[in-house]
Amino acid sequence: MGAAKAERVAPRARRPDPFMTRRAFLVSAPSALAGFVAGRWALREGVPPLAGEVDVAQAYHQWSKPGYLGLLGTALNWGQPLSPYKTYPGQPRVPLPKGPATGGLSVEEAILRRRSQRDFTDKPLSLSNLSHLLQMAAGITEPSYPLRAAPSAGALYPIEIYVVVSRVEGLPPGIYHFEVWKHTLEVLREGDFRLPMVAAAVGQDMPGEAAVTFVLSGIFQRTRWKYRERAYRYVLLEAGHIGENLYLASTSLGLGCVAIGAFFDDQVNDLLDLDGAAEAALYLLCVGHV
Ligand SMILES: Cc1cc2nc3c(=O)[nH]c(=O)nc-3n(C[C@H](O)[C@H](O)[C@H](O)COP(=O)(O)O)c2cc1C
Repeated sequence: MGAAKAERVAPRARRPDPFMTRRAFLVSAPSALAGFVAGRWALREGVPPLAGEVDVAQAYHQWSKPGYLGLLGTALNWGQPLSPYKTYPGQPRVPLPKGPATGGLSVEEAILRRRSQRDFTDKPLSLSNLSHLLQMAAGITEPSYPLRAAPSAGALYPIEIYVVVSRVEGLPPGIYHFEVWKHTLEVLREGDFRLPMVAAAVGQDMPGEAAVTFVLSGIFQRTRWKYRERAYRYVLLEAGHIGENLYLASTSLGLGCVAIGAFFDDQVNDLLDLDGAAEAALYLLCVGHV
């Protein structure tokens, strides 16, 4: 009896205001779905090709398979061979100190520990660590016949590395090009490029937080003159090799690394002053302390 009385006087729990009434939901959900489908259709993003339309990636893949007849044609070059060394004559240079010979982990430990890290602290990278990362990524490892840390089809080395520096000891923020032959950095632009890099990375904030963002570009003709229609495959594969080297070298130094494939190509190309055709940005890798 007492309990029933107590129940009557206790304030009744107020039902929370619904975020959306049932009727509003029933009206808006189909409209939202229709809008989503129409938007995807209009933009044609992620929409499989219609019958009769060509998926250029599949068409390229099929077309770039070698056949016996095609192999005969490889006696003919596609255009002129290019030097595997890009330099910016007249630009100021920053010599890179010799980095540590090893980050400390065995290759097996680095592979097992590697994870994509998306949060970085403010701690700057040392110049010797940056030097070590560049050496491990794609530095020259066999000077007598300049071979590099990452394999390359025909040793033609189509990949260039740019470093967008946010926080490196002794290095003003800016955009630098790695001159592999001399193991130096060429100063391309000074300034803080964190915000434009975040915007170029489709709003992903890692380039705004990392100490450095490596931009790997491809100079297609370096590989194309010899490997013709297969060149585009090789150039992308080689960017992947260098990307993994950067992941493992960062892990071994106790640094974090994350790859970024989702970026607005034209924005990154513009920041680096690349034409996007003969040379184009392919892959970003952010590195910093975690
Ligand atoms: C080609 C490629 C593109 C990627 N692009 C992005 C990206 O744009 N943003 C991101 O946060 N992670 C990106 N990643 C990282 C993957 O999300 C990550 O490797 C995956 O979740 C597996 O996690 P793990 O690297 O820690 O093993 C990319 C990885 C690869 C290989």
